[in-house]
Amino acid sequence: MTTSFARLSDFLSTDVDWDDSEDDDTMWRVGDFASSLVRRNPSLVQERMAEISRSRSLMDELVPHSEFPHRRRDKFVLFRDPGERFVVRLHRFHPCGSTDTEYGPIHNHRYPGVTVLLRGAYQERVYTEVARDDARRTADLTLDEERVLAGGQVDVKGWRTAHQVRNVSPDQAAFTLFVRGPSLRRFSHIYDLDNGTFMDTAGAHDLARVGFLTAMMGSAAVRSRHDAMRFIGPADQWSERYDVMMRVAEGQGFPPPGTAP
Ligand SMILES: [Fe+2]
Repeated sequence: MTTSFARLSDFLSTDVDWDDSEDDDTMWRVGDFASSLVRRNPSLVQERMAEISRSRSLMDELVPHSEFPHRRRDKFVLFRDPGERFVVRLHRFHPCGSTDTEYGPIHNHRYPGVTVLLRGAYQERVYTEVARDDARRTADLTLDEERVLAGGQVDVKGWRTAHQVRNVSPDQAAFTLFVRGPSLRRFSHIYDLDNGTFMDTAGAHDLARVGFLTAMMGSAAVRSRHDAMRFIGPADQWSERYDVMMRVAEGQGFPPPGTAP
């Protein structure tokens, strides 16, 4: 039997022209398809996580690319396209009662992305970069809007758009299904609005991995992905993370409020 998640990964593999992923219409097609599947089967993500947690080979493939535990937001990789055109993830934004209530850093991405709110809500500020001087590392941003994204909503974001996010609930995590498109450039940026400056990042994944290790080991030696991989070692050493994945998989499904059948 074809699972709902397999229908999603098949659609993303065969029916989406990822060469057109800079076009928002392409990404809205992805979002509309994913949200319609979730409406029909609110347990789609939960079923996929259970499938992953039962399979050592899927665990070995996907868990090392996931980021948890993370201070603000966990990322669980659900599917990686072998051609690296797209990745499907579950994001879990921690409630502000368990982390700080301030917004995370203002940043953009190297790729276009689609978010489907599965459960809960988060607040977001969206910015446009109106000027950037790469030599001086300065940038001007304007705040376009501040909004709340809640269960059932779909959001498309191109790589040019900067944003920052926080979960305002004191006790409810927010869960999102996230599809990221191909990396369209080498670096993303983290902005310092007060100073009008920015810095390049080599990708949130590498940064978080290095940051996590640095925090754990207190080591200034962990400065690069190469260093990180040296410390992390083979996938066997990620076994404690498997337990977290299984606990999430064993949780409830993610019916968006008011849209469950
Ligand atoms: Fe982001």
